[in-house]
Amino acid sequence: MHLNPDLEFIEKAAMLHDIGIFLTQAQAIGCTGEKPYICHGYLGKKLLDEHGLPPEYGLVCERHTGAGITKENILLNNIPLPQRDMVPISLEEKIICAADKYHSKNPKYSDKNITTIQIIDELGKISKDHAKRFSMWAEEFNL
Ligand SMILES: [Fe+2]
Repeated sequence: MHLNPDLEFIEKAAMLHDIGIFLTQAQAIGCTGEKPYICHGYLGKKLLDEHGLPPEYGLVCERHTGAGITKENILLNNIPLPQRDMVPISLEEKIICAADKYHSKNPKYSDKNITTIQIIDELGKISKDHAKRFSMWAEEFNL
């Protein structure tokens, strides 16, 4: 691949990116934690940082929800997240975030193929920013 991402890092970080999910409330997928589901990214970062992993692993967690979430978006929509930018920056963060959108954790939908257009439509319902960022990655990665 001409972009030359660190595939070994991607494999490990992708396995860990949702690790914070058990701390959130998402009954449909068996999570009975206390925090809102949207928090699983930054909670995963906190967990991995506390366990002494190199910071780039936690950043993958924190920056993968939606198509990344800006500080502006957090403030404007009163999203219960720490007020900082949580948008993928590195190539590997972008690849993991983008790839994640093609998969549903809900076993009801896990065998369904999700198309790039469907992802852009769904992200557009959350915010135009999300849809725009994902569209840029779709172009960059030929999705
Ligand atoms: Fe996630």
